[in-house]
Amino acid sequence: MFEDIFIDINKVENSRINSLDFENLNFGREFSDHMFMMDYANGKWGIPKILPFENISIHPALSALHYGQSIFEGLKAYRNKKNDIFLFRPDKNIIRMNESCKRMCMPTIPENIFMKGVKTLIALDKEWIPNTADGSLYIRPYLFATDEYVGIKPSDSYKFIIFTSPVGEYYTEPIKVKLETKYTRAAKGGVGRAKTAGNYAASLYPAKLAQEQGYQQLLWTDGVYHKYIEESGTMNICFVIDDVLVTPSEESDTILKGITKRSVIEIANSWEMKVEERKVSVKEIIESIENGSLTEMFGVGTAATIVEIIVLNADGKDYELNPPEKRKFSPKVGKYLNNLKKGRVDDPFGWVIKL
Ligand code: PLP
Ligand code: COI
Repeated sequence: MFEDIFIDINKVENSRINSLDFENLNFGREFSDHMFMMDYANGKWGIPKILPFENISIHPALSALHYGQSIFEGLKAYRNKKNDIFLFRPDKNIIRMNESCKRMCMPTIPENIFMKGVKTLIALDKEWIPNTADGSLYIRPYLFATDEYVGIKPSDSYKFIIFTSPVGEYYTEPIKVKLETKYTRAAKGGVGRAKTAGNYAASLYPAKLAQEQGYQQLLWTDGVYHKYIEESGTMNICFVIDDVLVTPSEESDTILKGITKRSVIEIANSWEMKVEERKVSVKEIIESIENGSLTEMFGVGTAATIVEIIVLNADGKDYELNPPEKRKFSPKVGKYLNNLKKGRVDDPFGWVIKL
C-alpha cells in the first residue's frame, strides 16, 4: 500500500544530534533534523517531501494567521533499551485530524501518505528518540491555510508539516487544577471537538489567571450551565468513584476525543473494571470527594500521559485528594501503557506499530 507513494527526501548534511542532552530535555524546545512537508493547491496535494528542519517563509497576508484555519495532532514514537522503535495508534491520529479538517473546512489528508510520512520521518531521525524512562519523540503533524488573501472564505491552498521533538515529561509532578466556571473553552455546535489552534488560544487567559493562583491547569465545565465537567486544557479527565472509572462522555461536540482516554477505557474494560462514560456534574464530584468515594482523579493525554491530580479548587475552596501512593488504578494503567508503548509487554489490542 505504501510502495507507490514517492517521498522526495533531502537529508541534512550534518546532524545536530550531538548537541542534544537526552537527560535534560525541555518539552517542545528541541527539534530533530528533518521535517515532512506537503502542499495543497489547485484542488490537489503536491509531492510529499522530507527536508532539513528549517524556518519557513510566509506571506504577511497568510490566511491562517488572520482567520485561524489551523489544526494539529500529537503522537509519539518510543524506543526501548533494545533499540526497537514503536508508534502508538497513529491510525487514530489521522482519523481525528481528518475530522478536524472537515470541521475547519480544510482538505483531508490521505491516510496512506500520513502513515508513510510519519514512518519515513521517524526512521530517518530514529537516533533522536530518547530511550530514557520517560522520554519519547513527540510527533507534531499540522495543517494550515496559506492563501495570501484578505477576506473570509476557506483558503484554496494549505501546508501540511510534520516535525518531531525529543521530549521528557510534560508534567513532572502531580498537579493542582482549578474548576473553571466563568470562562468557556467550547460551546455546543462550536469547534471544541476539533484540534484547532484557536481552542488553545482561547484557553490561555483563564489558564494564566489560574496559574497565578498556583493551579497548573483548568478543569473546564460546560459552556451553558458551568455545572458539568468537560476536560482539562491539555488532556481529558478521569475519576475513580466507588471503584468505577468515570469520565465525561464525548456525546457533546465540545470535548476532544482523546486517544489516551479511549485506550485507558479499553484497558479498564479488559481488566473487567466498570466504566461509565456519561455526564459528570461538579456537584457529584464534590460530594464524592467529601464522602470519600472518589479515590482518584487524573488527566490523560499524549503529552501529559497519565498525570495525577492532587488538588481540585472549586468555588474558592481547595479539595485535597487521595495522595497518589494510595491510588490503585491510575498508577497501574500508566505503567501498563508505558510498557505497551515500549514493546515490553504483549499488545493484545494491536495498538503498537513496530517500525
Ligand atoms: N484534550 C485536549 C484539549 C488536548 O489538547 C489533548 C491532547 O492532545 C487531549 C485532550 C488528549 O488527547 P490525546 O489523548 O489524543 O492526546
Ligand atoms: C498532546 O497531548 O499531544 C497535546 O496536543 C497537548 C499539547 C497542547 C502539548
